[in-house]
Amino acid sequence: MKDQIKVNLGENSYSVIWQDLILSLKKDIEKFTEGRKTAVITNTKIYGIYKKEINNLFKNSLLIILPDGEKTKRIKTIEEISEKLLKENFNRDSLLIAFGGGVIGDITGFAASIYARGISFVQVPTTLLAMVDSSVGGKTGVNLSQGKNMAGTFYQPKAVFICCEFLKTLPKREINCGLAEAVKSALIMNKVFFSFLEKNVENILNKNINIMNLLSKESVLVKAAVVEKDEKENLLRGILNLGHTLAHAIESWYNYKYINHGEAVSIGLSFAAFFSYRQGILEEKKYHRIIDILTNLKLNKNISNLPGQKKPKAEELLELMKKDKKNKKEEIYFVMLKDIGQYLLPKPVESKKLFLALKEFYKL
Ligand SMILES: NC(=O)c1ccc[n+]([C@@H]2O[C@H](COP(=O)([O-])OP(=O)(O)OC[C@H]3O[C@@H](n4cnc5c(N)ncnc54)[C@H](O)[C@@H]3O)[C@@H](O)[C@H]2O)c1
Ligand SMILES: [Zn+2]
Repeated sequence: MKDQIKVNLGENSYSVIWQDLILSLKKDIEKFTEGRKTAVITNTKIYGIYKKEINNLFKNSLLIILPDGEKTKRIKTIEEISEKLLKENFNRDSLLIAFGGGVIGDITGFAASIYARGISFVQVPTTLLAMVDSSVGGKTGVNLSQGKNMAGTFYQPKAVFICCEFLKTLPKREINCGLAEAVKSALIMNKVFFSFLEKNVENILNKNINIMNLLSKESVLVKAAVVEKDEKENLLRGILNLGHTLAHAIESWYNYKYINHGEAVSIGLSFAAFFSYRQGILEEKKYHRIIDILTNLKLNKNISNLPGQKKPKAEELLELMKKDKKNKKEEIYFVMLKDIGQYLLPKPVESKKLFLALKEFYKL
């Protein structure tokens, strides 16, 4: 399958291109690399698995191999990359290629946005999360010691190349992170996509390539539709945060260890569905369908089965939820669902209501 979606953002528009085989990406990528100085940014783990493919796809490129993991997502890395580029005389016409998951994508996008006041970059996502979410939309960034993703830019790639063959080597835990974001996309905007997920559980769990192509395509369509209307997160883009208010609190409570972003998101989705139902906005049977898809895809649904002896208390999670910069004193911005495939715009919710729902949710 070769397929394309255009993300329409005026002069920042770009295509997302699918190929079934990694080596088939070569021709498409060469259209961007030809005659240009190019650097490929990846990490030790991905290079260990895909050395042959990287050498084949990017023959004359500078290779920048970073340590694996979220801890690399910091300002120091951006400085090191920029120094390397300068040493090799990279200029405004040069190109960066992000070859990896969300961490590599966020770092590469950020470096591209500031080096020489901005150079081009393209994304080759190798995790499901990056395919369905982070490689599209133009958010780039790194973590500060006091806050995740607190330094960054909005900077769109020139193209995104998706190939689900990469998923063959991706561990189940990482697949789950992408699946949680795909379920989120279906929930906010596309009930047909949601039914597709329900019907294809086995194929998804087996990473069937045609099904994963469709799953990533539908997710990108949702993200593109939202970003096209609200590139820089005024209000609408906030719907992509369905499930994320609680997810961010859980990740923060665990100090970004032991639990991955997507794992926290699937719990957050189940809570957002529960809260929408408890507020009388979402029908009970729809809430159960949401819980069922999370169960069938083997995703986390509750806080009570999280790792570790100690678990976050409802009070602690509420305090962390309040920390989001958009919140006012006793209200928390929260995204609810009217229906499967129908969001409610983010709106302030009384923190007391969330607290009571959290207490109840814990016991489910
Ligand atoms: N920019 C955005 O809009 C956006 C959206 C969501 C998340 N993010 C960011 O994305 C990051 C999470 O991304 P992620 O989940 O892709 O994590 P990641 O980039 O850390 O990748 C997860 C793990 O999988 C490994 N890996 C990557 N591709 C592989 C493959 N094909 N086979 C085997 N192993 C592979 C990586 O080396 C890593 O160990 C976070 O930093 C988050 O803040 C950004
Ligand atoms: Zn997310």
